[in-house]
Amino acid sequence: MKIVKTVKEVREQVAEWRKQGLTVGLVPTMGYLHEGHASLIDRSVSENDRTVVSDFVNPMQFGPTEDLQTYPRDLAHDAALVEVHGGDLIFHPEPEEMYHEGFSSFVDMSVLTEELCGLSRPVHFRGVCTVVTKLFNIVQPDAAYFGKKDAQQLTIVRHMVDDLNMNLRIVGCPIVREDDGLAKSSRNTYLSAEERQAALVLSKAIALGSSLIKTGEVNAAVITGQMTELIKAEPLAKIDYVKLVDAATMQPIAVFDRPALCAVAVYIGKTRLIDNFFTEDVVPEV
Ligand code: PAF
Repeated sequence: MKIVKTVKEVREQVAEWRKQGLTVGLVPTMGYLHEGHASLIDRSVSENDRTVVSDFVNPMQFGPTEDLQTYPRDLAHDAALVEVHGGDLIFHPEPEEMYHEGFSSFVDMSVLTEELCGLSRPVHFRGVCTVVTKLFNIVQPDAAYFGKKDAQQLTIVRHMVDDLNMNLRIVGCPIVREDDGLAKSSRNTYLSAEERQAALVLSKAIALGSSLIKTGEVNAAVITGQMTELIKAEPLAKIDYVKLVDAATMQPIAVFDRPALCAVAVYIGKTRLIDNFFTEDVVPEV
């Protein structure tokens, strides 16, 4: 397993693999890897001859008041995890390698980016679309692997790949959870012991929404209303959103009559956490 810092080194390595006729998977990350990332690496390793993991805290997707400076970083830990899971190359560029002086081209999207996290993080998805496009251009993978925990991001990336005729497969992988249900996230490290306990309210709300849908509830206001009540009962929680949206457009729906995404964003103390389920992943009760 190799760690490289420049675009040139990635290109040379991938070109060598391509000469040998090997397929390449890409797992884009911001580092501080956990079992959620490990599941993406495992999937890529199982489906491709070689796997590249990008490890880059992308400044462009953070707003001015967000946690860019404090975002956790630990390259040695990441390298050990990638090695154990069979990844072949870590691309760990400095910000200047990705954004040279005078950088002024962006990839942006309307509609899908304007709801959910896009409302409270206005510059976020422009930063994600731009860096992901750059990573696709640098690595030119056959497939790229994204977690369903960032469901809106996954939907946006799929849409971008389709809109812009990018030549790769996007694979969405299931949310990985702690034993007690909390979705794995690098930001969980910000939580105090008390907040960690309070954060369970997200997965409990998700379980409630999912069980309402399983038992046939179709009224979005009833589903999100009950989830909201549950979250509000937790004193350390402050709701950003609780929504049911069309799974393709990310626009709110009043009635669950098509594939949908049920998503929550909740501040636990100062830490903003997200969780969700796609209704296509809910197995109806018979
Ligand atoms: O999901 C993330 O960690 C980031 O948004 C991504 C896709 C690596 C782009 O910086």
